[in-house]
Amino acid sequence: MKLEQPAPGVGVIATEVDVCGMSAQEWDRLYQAWLAHSVLVVRGQHLEIGQFLDFGRRFGRVKPHRVRKSRHQEYPELTVMGVGTKKADGTKNDSVYNRGVSWHTDGPWDDEPCKATQLYGLEIPSYGGDTLFSNMYMAYDALPDALKQRIAGLDANYVYGGRKRIGVDLLEPEDQARPPTRYALVRVHPETGRKSLYFNPFHIQKIADLPEAESDALIEELTGHLVAPQADYRHKWQKGDLVVWDNRCTIHSATGGYPIEEKRVHWRCTIMDA
Ligand code: SIN
Repeated sequence: MKLEQPAPGVGVIATEVDVCGMSAQEWDRLYQAWLAHSVLVVRGQHLEIGQFLDFGRRFGRVKPHRVRKSRHQEYPELTVMGVGTKKADGTKNDSVYNRGVSWHTDGPWDDEPCKATQLYGLEIPSYGGDTLFSNMYMAYDALPDALKQRIAGLDANYVYGGRKRIGVDLLEPEDQARPPTRYALVRVHPETGRKSLYFNPFHIQKIADLPEAESDALIEELTGHLVAPQADYRHKWQKGDLVVWDNRCTIHSATGGYPIEEKRVHWRCTIMDA
């Protein structure tokens, strides 16, 4: 197995390994590389759904996504992304598809913190459709000292879809009505012991316990510090790529920008602590 770093701040790419047939030592090396570099790419895999979910289970408990209508009927922990993105009536005029273009971490609206997300590339467009990742340890380290002091001890509240409740109509009525969650803005990673900025401008509702105007101003200020210089990696997908990112210390953004008539299809699962 070969491991290479595609960018100085985040990411590790593994080749010459089959995740379905690897040894305990290879798995240990992969997991340690994932913890060290926060985003793991394993190239060239040929997976069935069960194998995809089993690999996710090596990291933790796989959990069905809150959007129930996107769950696979036979395997509820699996979401198939990208199928049906083209309008059936053909009325869409855009020549490229741009959905999902915003920095976020997955699942801060869930009342248990989301450990990781796993994606597997099944159909990849001829251009565009990359995914950006950024390192939130580095984002925290790069904050001005005064801002670090201001956010120490502060929490943020999150709801599905954030302040604009974008996409909330995808949820069932009982899930739409769930109360906001609350997480510290600075979190210590339970496995590496490193501090990172845990902040998600997309799903945030407010900075907890602050007056509205102060919360809005702090959200704007933190958003300006979200991606530290040298902290990001642009993943250009290949068919057979298996990518797992650590939601405790990274954010990511789809880039869109691929031809609307081409398919971009991934399997996805959400991974929680055991
Ligand atoms: C995601 O935001 O969870 C998926 C990213 C992508 O489709 O590139």
